[in-house]
Amino acid sequence: MSVLRRVPEIDSHGLAGLLPICPHFSTALLAHAGINSPPGTVPRVFRVMFHEPRIPPNTGNAIRMVAGTGCELHLVGPLGFDLSEPKLKRAGLDYHDLATVTVHENLTAAWEAVTPARVFAFTAHATTSYADIAYQPGDVLLFGPEPTGLSEEVLADEHITERLRIPMLPGRRSLNLSNAAALVTYEAWRQHGFKGAV
Ligand SMILES: C[S@@+](CC[C@H](N)C(=O)[O-])C[C@H]1O[C@@H](n2cnc3c(N)ncnc32)[C@H](O)[C@@H]1O
Repeated sequence: MSVLRRVPEIDSHGLAGLLPICPHFSTALLAHAGINSPPGTVPRVFRVMFHEPRIPPNTGNAIRMVAGTGCELHLVGPLGFDLSEPKLKRAGLDYHDLATVTVHENLTAAWEAVTPARVFAFTAHATTSYADIAYQPGDVLLFGPEPTGLSEEVLADEHITERLRIPMLPGRRSLNLSNAAALVTYEAWRQHGFKGAV
């Protein structure tokens, strides 16, 4: 049984405007995390989490990416855009109805909804490579806001299992948020034989 509940702040982010366009997407927005799995079991998918994303096309790209991989996307507010933003919808194309997207008011609300066993926080300032982890279904892959990255406060959160870095050449600050999320998600899925893919 899936638990449906209203996630605060959705209305203030323009869900009403999205409803007639993407009915399944908006249903997913109301879904409790873990909707793909029976209660009490480990979710079968990886959970991509964006903390306070700011740039609509990045989240649109991520919507398309989770639609392609079957992962969940969790958006942790406050968001830097309205969910009905045309650039977000354009980047997500017509994949919104194939994606499971949940909006959480803040990180505390996200932890309550997701209750993760493991959370990997991605920051260019970490030393452990993302490629050295054996990912498990249910893992949360946490990415930071575009301008600043994850704050020290978030990085120190007790839910975080480990901080991970995606290798880059020297002198480069960071990768694009949606690129970082896609390559980590695909590595996690690759480790599981791209289960379900054709
Ligand atoms: C555009 S980046 C943030 C840039 C910010 N100036 C910084 O240095 O963290 C957005 C997010 O993508 C992820 N990211 C980008 N490049 C990364 C890297 N090389 N290693 C780990 N995470 C990275 C992080 O989660 C980051 O918070």
